[in-house]
This record gives sequence, C-alpha cells and structure tokens, in this order.
Amino acid sequence: MLVELKVLAASRQRTPPEFRPHLAEAVRYWSLGQRQSRAWAPHMAKCRAFIDTLIDDQQSRRTVVVLGSGPLFDLPLESLARTFARVILVDRIHLSSTDERIARYGNVERQWRDLAPNGGLGFLAEIPELDWVISATLLADMARRDARSARQTVDGHLDALARLNCVTTLVADLDYRVFNRHGVLLDSGDLMHGRPIPRGGQRWKWEVAPFGATRDHTRRVHYMAAWPDWRTTS
Ligand SMILES: C[S@@+](CC[C@H](N)C(=O)[O-])C[C@H]1O[C@@H](n2cnc3c(N)ncnc32)[C@H](O)[C@@H]1O
Repeated sequence: MLVELKVLAASRQRTPPEFRPHLAEAVRYWSLGQRQSRAWAPHMAKCRAFIDTLIDDQQSRRTVVVLGSGPLFDLPLESLARTFARVILVDRIHLSSTDERIARYGNVERQWRDLAPNGGLGFLAEIPELDWVISATLLADMARRDARSARQTVDGHLDALARLNCVTTLVADLDYRVFNRHGVLLDSGDLMHGRPIPRGGQRWKWEVAPFGATRDHTRRVHYMAAWPDWRTTS
C-alpha cells in the first residue's frame, strides 16, 4: 500500500492535470501486475517475444511509437531503444515506476495523450520518420470506459491503424472467460464488441486473475491475438 502511494505521489506531479483522474486506476493495474507477476509472466513473455521478433523484420529503424505503453510490462523496451533512433511511448498515464528503465536511454520519450476520441491517431502525422506503430494491449482497456460507445472506440482505433503509412502492429484482447474450479464457464464477453476479427495472427491466453486472486473461487482468462501488420490483415 505504501509503495502504491509513493508511486501515485511521484507520478502525480508530472502528469498533466486533465489525465490525473486516471492515475489511481493506472497504479491499481501496475500493483496488480506486481502481485500477479507469476500468473501474468507467460502472457508478458509472449507479447515481448512477439514484438522482439518483429524488430528483426523492420527495414527502417528511425522512429517507433508505442500506443498504450503504460507500465511497460509487455514491451521489450530495451530492444526497441537499442535498435531504433527514437522511441515514443504514448499513454494517458506514465507512472514513476517506469522512470528507471526509461532513464537508461537518451532516445526514449513519453507523451501524455487520450487515444480514444475520433480514432485518436491524428498526432502521428506530425511525427517525422515514423516507421512503426505498436498498439500494445490498449484497445480493450480503452473501449471498457464507456459501454455505449465501446464498438465505436474499437472501430475508430482499428480503422485508424489500418490507414497509417507505416508498419502497424496490433496486440489486443479478443474476449474474456470466467471459469469455476470445475472448469465450468460462468461468464464470457466479447472485448471487440462485435467487430469481426480476421483469422490468423498469433493467439495465446492471459491468465488475468488466477484462482485465489478473487474471493469467488473463479479464474478469469483473456484470449489474446497479435498481428505483425494490421494494415495487411484487416
Ligand atoms: C492493459 S494496459 C496495458 C499497458 C501496457 N501495454 C503494459 O505493458 O502492460 C492498457 C493501457 O492503456 C492505457 N489507456 C487506456 N485508455 C486510454 C486512452 N483513452 N488513451 C491513452 N491510453 C489509454 C492505460 O492507461 C493502460 O496503460
């Protein structure tokens, strides 16, 4: 609890006022990630390895932008910083817990932005020498905020990604399932809110809440998908 409060206080100062209402939730996610580091490890490793492998495929390595970089759990930041001239991390919240990792590199910068309105990617046109955009486990979180406009948010983001003029990698939660101890499915939901999703891409599961994480003797699993270049799959 004390650690969380410290991170909250240290992060508050440099967070632009309009994004401060999201600080507490970002700290909760970071703290959950610390507590569930074992259960989350396979998902994080999959995600990092997926992006790491794609670095080798990039012909040009000038600027890479990561959308939804958050606490940097699922990103191979070190490989990106070593291979690209400029790395831009974009999120509503950048916690102080990421400072040490980022400070090792002079070519990594942070931008505070709300990526939801109208596809939210117009700012990318102003970034020179942009070679690669990575949407990193952002979409479901972004769509969750407002159930009424969730589908619109999903469509806005995916369509904006498809229109970009550079390689556009997407890592996204497709759906969630909640099971009891007998393996019976108790609840499930479409995190794409009805948006048809192309076949293919890499698929894996994220044990978001293993047994014991909540008091109701259930486990929650997210089904994940990742596409190296969303423009050629959508
Ligand atoms: C599931 S977390 C994934 C974070 C990160 N990829 C990681 O390594 O764990 C989703 C991230 O999306 C960010 N996010 C959600 N809605 C957003 C929005 N409208 N604009 C910008 N970032 C947003 C959250 O702040 C959070 O960092």
